Amino acid sequence: MEPLRTLLFVPGNRQNMIEKAQALPADVLVLDLEDSVPAAEKANARALVRDSIAGLALKGQRVFVRINSLASGYAQQDLEAVISDGIDGISQPKPSSGDEIRRVEAIIERLERDRGMRQGHVKLIPWVETAKGLLNAFEIASASPRVVGIAFGAEDFTLDTGMERTKEGSELHHPRVMVVIAARAADVIAIDTPYNDFRDEEGLIREARLARSLGFEGKFLIHPSQIDPVNQIFRPSAEEVAHARRVVEAFEAAEVQGFASTSLEGKMIDIPQANRARKLLGIAESIAQSEQG
Ligand code: COA
Ligand code: MG
Repeated sequence: MEPLRTLLFVPGNRQNMIEKAQALPADVLVLDLEDSVPAAEKANARALVRDSIAGLALKGQRVFVRINSLASGYAQQDLEAVISDGIDGISQPKPSSGDEIRRVEAIIERLERDRGMRQGHVKLIPWVETAKGLLNAFEIASASPRVVGIAFGAEDFTLDTGMERTKEGSELHHPRVMVVIAARAADVIAIDTPYNDFRDEEGLIREARLARSLGFEGKFLIHPSQIDPVNQIFRPSAEEVAHARRVVEAFEAAEVQGFASTSLEGKMIDIPQANRARKLLGIAESIAQSEQG
């Protein structure tokens, strides 16, 4: 799959930002119809997003649209406006169960059929951002083959659970780990919450590193200045790639000798380390390919 390291939110009612986004190097642009758009602007944003998709796709951008939740009453209209060949997927906020994913999927399926699109073209990234959503995260992540990743939404999650939202974020450790476990059990990727303090690059880098170390493969962003640092953090470094190559070579040499473990630079290498190294090489390869193309 193509990388999903950096997913930049662009408010759906801000024409200048959508234009600016044409040339930004995020892996994915997420045109937002939900919480960055006030109620009075919903219809306006829906039309603007609908009309912007083809142009962004033409510029080579991968586009997702974050629709409003099923509970809002807007989701169906949002989907009718935006389902088209130019989008890669839909991001669904605040689902509490797998059933809610299947309800959105049913609407998408019908629209794909009516519009002569390839069935299954439109992917899904649901948000895990409520107490119920977190307890049902595996069910949500495995509700449909369209789901490619699940996103952790810290603002709504701490609001829903009554947790204090602190700067250092220790309250987010447990839900983050649960989101990663649910994602991996469903064989999809986990994507971390946005970092709101967009002038604080150091804090952003610290949080993105932490997310990567916990198993997240990408992060939602709110500001263009966040793209480069976060792309870099989720790209395996040259040293990591070189080390992974040495691990795989050492392991394969041991296998030829009939061993499933060996040593490299004073440390044991066995099957999990070799597989970890292969996974890292796979990620590095898919990033290199997407950055060339
Ligand atoms: N996408 C595209 N362009 C963006 C952008 C975004 N998310 N955020 C800022 N920009 C543009 C600005 O329009 C500005 O363009 P200009 O130089 O042509 O005028 C430039 O980047 C620099 O922006 P800056 O002045 O630093 O910030 P701002 O005050 O204009 O915007 C926010 C700050 C937070 C309001 C804005 O980044 C934003 O709306 N982010 C998305 C919020 C969102 O979607 N939230 C919902 C998800 S939680
Ligand atoms: Mg939210």
